[in-house]
Amino acid sequence: MKSTEFLNNNKDRFLGELFELLRIPSISADSAYKHDVAQAADFVAEKLRAAGADKVEVCKTDGHPIVYGEKLIDSNLPTILVYGHYDVQPAVPLELWTTPPFEPTIRNERIYARGACDDKGQMYMHVKAFEAMMQTGTLACNVKFMIEGEEEAGSGNLGPFCIANKERLKADVVLISDTSMIANDTPSIDVGLRGLSYVEVEVTGPNKDLHSGVYGGAVANPINVLAKMIADMHDENGHITIPGFYDDIIEQTDEEKAALNSAPFDLNEYKKDLGIDEVWGEKGYSTLERTGTRPTLDCNGIWGGYIGEGSKTVLPSKAFAKISMRLVPNQNSDKITALFKSYFESVAPKSVKVEVRPHHGGEPVLTPTTSIEYKAAEKAMEATFGKKPIPTRGGGSIPIVALFEKELGLKSVLMGFGLDIDALHSPNESYGLFNYYKGIETIPYFFKYYAEMK
Ligand code: BES
Ligand code: MN
Ligand code: MN
Repeated sequence: MKSTEFLNNNKDRFLGELFELLRIPSISADSAYKHDVAQAADFVAEKLRAAGADKVEVCKTDGHPIVYGEKLIDSNLPTILVYGHYDVQPAVPLELWTTPPFEPTIRNERIYARGACDDKGQMYMHVKAFEAMMQTGTLACNVKFMIEGEEEAGSGNLGPFCIANKERLKADVVLISDTSMIANDTPSIDVGLRGLSYVEVEVTGPNKDLHSGVYGGAVANPINVLAKMIADMHDENGHITIPGFYDDIIEQTDEEKAALNSAPFDLNEYKKDLGIDEVWGEKGYSTLERTGTRPTLDCNGIWGGYIGEGSKTVLPSKAFAKISMRLVPNQNSDKITALFKSYFESVAPKSVKVEVRPHHGGEPVLTPTTSIEYKAAEKAMEATFGKKPIPTRGGGSIPIVALFEKELGLKSVLMGFGLDIDALHSPNESYGLFNYYKGIETIPYFFKYYAEMK
């Protein structure tokens, strides 16, 4: 393809531009970085404009801006809406990074930086693939870009934006690169994502911090209580104990399970990579099923009492935790949040008061392998990897995918190029140079095949 040749002639520049974007600490969750987030939005807008997009706009929202741009070449051709995000997760703990998170560095053919893969690297592949198609006169579909800056903070303003911009966002399909594949020699496409229900809990005991000697043993310690309440949320088989939690799940058929488990997966490699001697999870399910088709409950953070230097003998007044539940098809995040809340309140001992505060949520999604968009993505990856991709289930969440379907009536295709070793959200996040360039090479094929098949 001509666009591949263009890519090959511009590799260094394409990498240099990504580095520029990676240097901007666009952490959406932390308001101290508001200015940087805005700068990243401007950067994306400018590059879209330079690549040839029309009507490029940095759209204000109640939170961080959404970058829009389009190239409509022929009303007879289908329109692809490219979605991605330019915001990133916080980079803490900083001391665990080998090189600083916002000073991108290449080591072993990989780009190390926060957002290298999730999602700056993957999103920027689309900007460069678009440039390549424009420069070589090979753009095969109309294209619209919607790049947001709040994905890592729950996409709170994207739903309202979609509703308010239905006409502008009219398209045939949404194309997203924000997921992972099995391996560089085993391409795959996620056909499912988990939903999310996220809550913060507060447990209050005595009305003030107390001397743990004077009162200890006679007054309930909210940290002890909270720790037990969290521990009790799984039984000895790894099942979640919240009544009704599993009610709406559609069990997979034996055939579906077999297909899922036939994907290449090396449990020993997996354990070695994570430095663990044994995996854990719901009894009766494989690791791939546990992350792909089963729901979870995880404590993401827990705090209270004294954590400073030395010791302080204190029986704290309060304890807190952030708890996430990953949901699978047919579970509903509002319903699960409500079940959690009533369960948590019902099991709290009388010695404490509890409060449950819901955070953002999102619904699980499933995308069929029979759709035109799946087939086009499959054929595109086959063209550039020389192998047909395997359909897989991603354990992560992109809450907005369900919303695209509900509000815009659009299906999404999750053509991601990351790998599990990219360490998303972790220290030393990275993205393979191979993956960055392979993505830029593959995207034009998707456009081409989608136009042909549609
Ligand atoms: N890109 C990820 C989601 C992802 C990663 C899906 C790998 C499949 C495979 C996305 O940026 C993300 O991190 N989503 C959050 C949810 C959000 C509401 C904070 C998540 O999954 O925790
Ligand atoms: Mn992402
Ligand atoms: Mn993420």
